Amino acid sequence: MTDIIRSVKDLIEIHGKPKREVYLDSENSGLIFPEALEEMISCYRETGYGHPSITHKIGWMSYEKIFKSTQILADFINSSVDEIAYFHSGTEANNVAVTGLARAYKNRGKKIIVSSIEHFSVIFPAEKLENYGYRVVKIPVDEYGFINVDSLSNAVDKDTLLVSIAAVNHEIGTIQDIRGLVEIVKDKNPQTIFHTDAADALGKINFDVDRLGVDLATFSGHKVYGPKGVGVLYIKEGIKLEPVIYGQLSTQRLWPGVENIPAIAGFAKAIEIIRNNFDTFVFHMRSLRDDLIDGLLENIPYTLLNGPKGDRRAPDNVNVSFLYCEGEALTIELSMRGIYVSSGSACTSRLLEPSHVLLAIGRKHEEAHGSVLMKVTPMHTIEDVKYVLSQFPQAISRIRSLSPLKPEE
Ligand SMILES: Cc1ncc(COP(=O)(O)O)c(C=O)c1O
Repeated sequence: MTDIIRSVKDLIEIHGKPKREVYLDSENSGLIFPEALEEMISCYRETGYGHPSITHKIGWMSYEKIFKSTQILADFINSSVDEIAYFHSGTEANNVAVTGLARAYKNRGKKIIVSSIEHFSVIFPAEKLENYGYRVVKIPVDEYGFINVDSLSNAVDKDTLLVSIAAVNHEIGTIQDIRGLVEIVKDKNPQTIFHTDAADALGKINFDVDRLGVDLATFSGHKVYGPKGVGVLYIKEGIKLEPVIYGQLSTQRLWPGVENIPAIAGFAKAIEIIRNNFDTFVFHMRSLRDDLIDGLLENIPYTLLNGPKGDRRAPDNVNVSFLYCEGEALTIELSMRGIYVSSGSACTSRLLEPSHVLLAIGRKHEEAHGSVLMKVTPMHTIEDVKYVLSQFPQAISRIRSLSPLKPEE
């Protein structure tokens, strides 16, 4: 670890401070709204540092903080307060949605259906259940990441316990027609439970649990410019879940131990800001996204956009493959220029494995390896995008000049 820190420091010294710094890696770890951070600090100092189950003034204040935060979240997704459960992350909420459901409905079905492009925090717990007699079916997607509805319809049967499909794909920004998919599933088996991982949907598209008809939905604090370390599961009234960890007294049946109230309050503050500015934020992000995508595709040869264009792409998502270019090397080169992005999949980049999402949409290994994922936020500006576009061509040329792969003459 200290070696990594030292080598990063050495690199910065050699290259000097960049003219500008633009953090575009909110897929891995999101930026926070300053107001959400302030809310967390005031919670730690004044309004939410107690245990909400304890009967003294500080405990009551803390309870009130959770309750009011939950009301903000519930209003935003059109659920009731009782349908919101907190967790330590989106990863944990997804794990509970899959594993907790299987534990609660032992006698229902043994088939779990996911899409081939789900986040690993859905795929891995589903695959773990194969050790306990469950069968996991992965539904293919088309070249833009849209679910193959015939495959989904054919796969759902009376043995299907759960279907889990993300509302917005975290890597390529594909926005699924969740309401249509829920109808297909419930037509085939009304008892099948529909979960959507909405970590990348909340705050980017309209998300109304009632209109969509989902039974379970996952959210994550840092994906909406709130704090890390808090996730939420919407659990429709009547749906049962068993905990996956056990512990002490808590207001949360599925989150044992003391609640992270500052994180919950910071999450709610971020939601409040988004709710008050939703249309403006979406318009702003779309415009930055399109400037970035168009600028890269127009000015850099051998470049491919991953995922759909236009309205069915998440407003924040830019994912581009640069042929004859090694993505990891590119992230380092861009970092020296003050531009922070991730390559391949955010979750797999350290493993140097090509992204399973890019492979599922038909990209070749080398196209997946040469990909860069960026997310714009309401906090980015047009100057940020101009700076990024001014640096990319040189960065790509440099990395391509080092690559053994060259375009055919
Ligand atoms: C679609 C999706 N689901 C789940 C998660 C996991 O959330 P967390 O980072 O809060 O564990 C992420 C995180 O990036 C995500 O993009």
